[in-house]
Amino acid sequence: MTRVLLGQLVTFGEEPQHITHETRGAIVMGANGTILWRGARALLPAEYAAAPQDDHGEKLLMAGFIDTHIHFPQYRMLAAAAVDLLDWLSRYTFPEEARYASKAYAEAAAEIFLQRLFSNGTTGAMAFCSSHKVCAEALFEAAARNNMALITGKTMMDRGAIPAVEDEPEQAARDTLALHKAFHGKGRLRHAVTPRFAITSSEKQLSLAGELLQDCTGALMQTHLSESPGEIARVRELFPNDRDYTAVYERFGLLTPRSLFAHGIHLSESECQRLSAAGATVMHCPTSNNFLGSGLMSMVKLKDVRLGLATDVGGGTSFSMLQTLGETYKVQMLCGRKLKAAELFHMATLGNARALRIEAETGSLDAGKFADVVVLDPQATPVLASRHALSNSVEDVLFALALLGDDRAVAATYVAGKRAH
Ligand code: GUN
Ligand code: ZN
Repeated sequence: MTRVLLGQLVTFGEEPQHITHETRGAIVMGANGTILWRGARALLPAEYAAAPQDDHGEKLLMAGFIDTHIHFPQYRMLAAAAVDLLDWLSRYTFPEEARYASKAYAEAAAEIFLQRLFSNGTTGAMAFCSSHKVCAEALFEAAARNNMALITGKTMMDRGAIPAVEDEPEQAARDTLALHKAFHGKGRLRHAVTPRFAITSSEKQLSLAGELLQDCTGALMQTHLSESPGEIARVRELFPNDRDYTAVYERFGLLTPRSLFAHGIHLSESECQRLSAAGATVMHCPTSNNFLGSGLMSMVKLKDVRLGLATDVGGGTSFSMLQTLGETYKVQMLCGRKLKAAELFHMATLGNARALRIEAETGSLDAGKFADVVVLDPQATPVLASRHALSNSVEDVLFALALLGDDRAVAATYVAGKRAH
């Protein structure tokens, strides 16, 4: 059924710094889950006047957030303290991911995981699964039930972990191909070829991943790159003939415009240039980088590289893209760049949609896209409310939300026109 949302509309235009603001706005959502119309409430076309309305008063309506990098099987292991990334992976992460060999466990977890996203205003995501095919199937199927834009794949990892999460190159390739055939392009689902990182794949597996990326038409590729000093040292030991970490992925055909690399903290100038020339994307994961002590990713250094923003749960300490924006702001301040609120929110919405190549269907409130909408309450907590009283522009209201907001500021979430939170 057609439904009208009322509230303050905030949209982020072509220019990353451009905000449009409609204080008494309306969005019309059609029966097929798309946006039919958006604009000033006073101009609502007569044909929609009788449609049921959700009146969100003075709250802000904007495009739902998109998380470009999150680990589904880590949804309950946030804040597991470790010495560094490799210690954290072996001590907590691999044992937790081992549980996802169970279809029943994965299916129950997928529902909870998606609810976590929706309650944080996240309506689209690219996720890692465990190495088990049933884990990816469970997440794809849960996302399909919610008509959500979701990209995932089975994690490929045939060494360097524990047997319960290690796979075998040929079987991993068969599972990856089967997932592509079963889910890619089905509704709003997309598939990503998902080698975990260079440390946990043999050369044979990396080579198969490169072939799969060619064979899986339209698929993305997600992996990790240059996150922690210990990881980089290990890559150097395992691949002594490659000139740097990026060169390993390059050699196996994994540095392409469809490739997305989480972290990218310690890249050399040459690596940045090659990532940029390839049209690849680096995903900034500030809460994770800070939590694991991995380092500061400088957007100044990566100015020529396509960027996405991500929570990286469970290395990341929050499902909230608002908290991720706040942490992005602080990390970039330490790196010599002062981001504006409009830039932050643009990155979390249209920018991330572009990073995942789903901007034709989500990332903004343009008519024709799916009605993926988050409703934010800038006065949701006492701290936000008293800060809000001092705000004198929409830019300032958004800035306070980015720095002080979390799931408490998410009043409602709509995914493809249906209320999901
Ligand atoms: N590198 C390889 N696997 C992971 C992971 O699960 N989380 C993070 N943060 N980095 C990784
Ligand atoms: Zn990650």
